Amino acid sequence: MEKLKEKSEYDGNPVGLSKDTATKMASELDRHLASLITLYNQYHKHHWVVEGPQFRDLHLFLEEHYTEVHEQYDAIAERLTVMGYCPTCHPARQLELTYIQHEEEGVFRIREMLQKDMEDEKQIVVELRKSIKLAFQHDDFATKALLEGILLKTEDRCHHIEHFLGEDSLSIGLTTKPEDILEEDTQAAPGKKAPLRAGTKKAATKTKA
Ligand SMILES: [Fe+2]
Repeated sequence: MEKLKEKSEYDGNPVGLSKDTATKMASELDRHLASLITLYNQYHKHHWVVEGPQFRDLHLFLEEHYTEVHEQYDAIAERLTVMGYCPTCHPARQLELTYIQHEEEGVFRIREMLQKDMEDEKQIVVELRKSIKLAFQHDDFATKALLEGILLKTEDRCHHIEHFLGEDSLSIGLTTKPEDILEEDTQAAPGKKAPLRAGTKKAATKTKA
């Protein structure tokens, strides 16, 4: 195959951004692209493996999230081409560029998997803010606007996961605090997964008035 362009090659751009600005912002965008693709893959995994009474809600919720993440990284990749650069597409190179780490293989408690998604979303918003500041300093207002739109939606996803992780419930006896789950985990036989019995600790320690 004849290669028309190297990854690092700068094409110039039709929108009047200087090479310096385009190069600096392209490297920021490439990092966000790789990180959002990593998050996209992780959300897919959670969408596939989630189980339990809230399966359908969570299955669809996670689908909404990876669909939105896909739209975001697609817009970032297209912005890279506007600037005269080729987006990083090879998974091995994306793995080097991403600033969030995909969780290890295997299935974990849904609460822990969502906690990881929330922490990764938080890392993304922190990194986005730095790039927005840089775009502003370089008068790259379109990249700034693009990243601000992504930031707002990413903060919303982060916040929505936080709501899913809330402890409240309308069902009497089904509210479980994280420390109750942890306590049961420590009582499980080595190598065995502890059964999750909501509210067990609370009921066992309740004394008569
Ligand atoms: Fe699906």
